[in-house]
Amino acid sequence: MKNLLIISLLLISVSLATSQSVTNQLAFVQCLQQPPTRFEPSSTSDVVYIPTNTSFTTVLRRRIPNLRFDKPTTPKPLAIVTAATWSHIGAALTCARQFSVQVRIRSGGHDFEGLSYTSTVPFFVLDMFSFRSIEVNLTEGTAWVDSGATTGELYYRIAEKSNVLGFPAGLYTTLGIGGHFSGGGYGTMMRKYGLSVDNVVGSGIVDSNGNIYTDRVSMGEDRFWAIRGGGAASFGIVLGYKIRLVPVPEKVTVFNVGKTVGEGAVDLIMKWQSFAHSTDRNLFVRLTLTLVNGTKPGEKTVLASFIGMYLGRSDKMLSVMNRDFPELKLKKTDCTEMRWIDSVLFWAGYPIGTPTSVLLETTVTKKLFQKWKSDYVKRSISRTDLGLIFKKLVEVEKVKMYWNPYGGRMGEIPSSRTPFPHRAGNLFNIEYLIEWSEAGDDVEKKYLTLANEMYKFMAPYVSSNPREAFLNYRDLEIGSSVNSTYQEGKIYGVKYFKDNFERLVDIKSKFDDINFWRNEQSIPVRK
Ligand SMILES: Cc1cc2nc3c(=O)[nH]c(=O)nc-3n(C[C@H](O)[C@H](O)[C@H](O)COP(=O)(O)OP(=O)(O)OC[C@H]3O[C@@H](n4cnc5c(N)ncnc54)[C@H](O)[C@@H]3O)c2cc1C
Ligand SMILES: *[C@@H]1O[C@H](CO)[C@@H](O)[C@H](O)[C@H]1NC(C)=O
Ligand SMILES: *[C@@H]1O[C@H](CO)[C@@H](O)[C@H](O)[C@H]1NC(C)=O
Ligand SMILES: *[C@@H]1O[C@H](CO)[C@@H](O)[C@H](O)[C@H]1NC(C)=O
Ligand SMILES: *[C@@H]1O[C@H](CO)[C@@H](O)[C@H](O)[C@H]1NC(C)=O
Repeated sequence: MKNLLIISLLLISVSLATSQSVTNQLAFVQCLQQPPTRFEPSSTSDVVYIPTNTSFTTVLRRRIPNLRFDKPTTPKPLAIVTAATWSHIGAALTCARQFSVQVRIRSGGHDFEGLSYTSTVPFFVLDMFSFRSIEVNLTEGTAWVDSGATTGELYYRIAEKSNVLGFPAGLYTTLGIGGHFSGGGYGTMMRKYGLSVDNVVGSGIVDSNGNIYTDRVSMGEDRFWAIRGGGAASFGIVLGYKIRLVPVPEKVTVFNVGKTVGEGAVDLIMKWQSFAHSTDRNLFVRLTLTLVNGTKPGEKTVLASFIGMYLGRSDKMLSVMNRDFPELKLKKTDCTEMRWIDSVLFWAGYPIGTPTSVLLETTVTKKLFQKWKSDYVKRSISRTDLGLIFKKLVEVEKVKMYWNPYGGRMGEIPSSRTPFPHRAGNLFNIEYLIEWSEAGDDVEKKYLTLANEMYKFMAPYVSSNPREAFLNYRDLEIGSSVNSTYQEGKIYGVKYFKDNFERLVDIKSKFDDINFWRNEQSIPVRK
């Protein structure tokens, strides 16, 4: 009897809570459409999309590259605010605070777990799509880049002004600056210049009260530190970053040489593991492992592709390769010289000769279902173990691996200089990728299981205690937060940030003690 009473009381309070939150959601949308007058004269009618607006779906899907979060069952936002002015942002934040609706900030939308545009709690999307200004200052050798711009737009605008300046950031050209830089940002020049965040010299941020801090001094060194690798979504809305451009030669050289196991891939990878992190820092040689048909019908084998870039001409590169990695037998005919901006297209997978204007395309056209994971390797993997890994890759079939060498500049930067802690002592980073095009929950479950099987299998060969992970390769399976507690946050926090986690928690507690800026993997407040 007593139990029954408690249950019915519970039921009443649950339904009260639900109707309360539905009322709040309605009031929130009304507030967005008619924001408090202090934000006038900027009307929001052109920038607030609710599900009944005909373009709601188009605007939402414009930056959803991963079909895993683009299903009818994917939780949708109450509204999308495609803010065009700071007063739009201020108005949206005021409404969100007043009616307790969570915000998801989206720049490029590439978050591997869709955290910038979906959630299991009521939320709205603040879309930075309209904040895309890029100003290159050749006198200073710097640029300001708004957070809604893409890496491709940034590369294009730099190259438009200079053929001897570039910037070290991601290989993919539709990544948003907001998410990419705030998670670290690595690319093919990291061995020479470090990460994107290692070349950031300023920024701006909006706090939950709508206060704008337009530079490094006004936001303070702590917050400036946090948004260079700690994930900006835990700290506020990043307006953009001021960056220091880096010198690039007029010509760089690229190559892509593939060898199957039958062609000696295992020996080459043994050598790659000692060469790639220790060679000339102008040289970046990525290793990708994919499956191809073997010689017998129905048989699959691993193809190891060595994809490289040298910041310089081909004769110089060949002498470095012949000194440090002669086993690959790289020939002049394997090499292509090109401008740095064309190498950007090469790495992004465009055929040689593609016009650079494709870098200005801001929406993603090729969409697949995807899952990614990451690891760090600190000791060379033995020949025997490589054999086992290859066997496993054939068994799980769909999983690809990208091995990205560290060393060079990456090993010189102290691990506490930015929240990104994976510096000295790492030979390479592993990305696991599984992608598919068939829809359906069963298919998805199957592929996620395969990805996990591969990840589990790799445990003995990669970092442990903690098993380190890269924030830009967001993975909710390494831990996620339901109640936003420190205990929950620590589980994924030390994997992403190691010793820097505690400082992130301190900064979070100081600047956002109400934990307004939260999501499934945000930095918790210390309680
Ligand atoms: C195909 C592909 C290739 C990739 N290649 C690379 C690579 O070469 N190197 C690399 O380092 N990474 C790479 N990544 C990972 C990429 O860097 C991250 O996914 C990054 O978070 C993408 O940023 P975004 O703005 O596009 O994502 P979003 O999904 O918009 O944002 C990611 C996170 O940042 C937050 N955020 C976004 N904008 C802001 C802002 N203005 N203020 C505060 N918080 C914000 C979001 O809320 C979310 O939590 C790749 C990803 C994909 C899908
Ligand atoms: C969405 O619909 C409302 C109501 O019809 C309209 O006032 C508003 O301007 C629309 N929003 C956009 C961005 O078009
Ligand atoms: C570039 O930087 C210099 C030096 O700080 C400054 O004087 C100049 O006004 C800047 N140019 C532009 C176009 O902003
Ligand atoms: C690989 O083999 C399968 C048959 O086993 C065939 O359908 C496919 O086209 C082959 N792929 C390539 C790239 O040759
Ligand atoms: C979250 O909090 C609720 C209520 O206190 C509790 O029942 C639940 O177990 C917590 N979940 C986690 C993952 O800690």
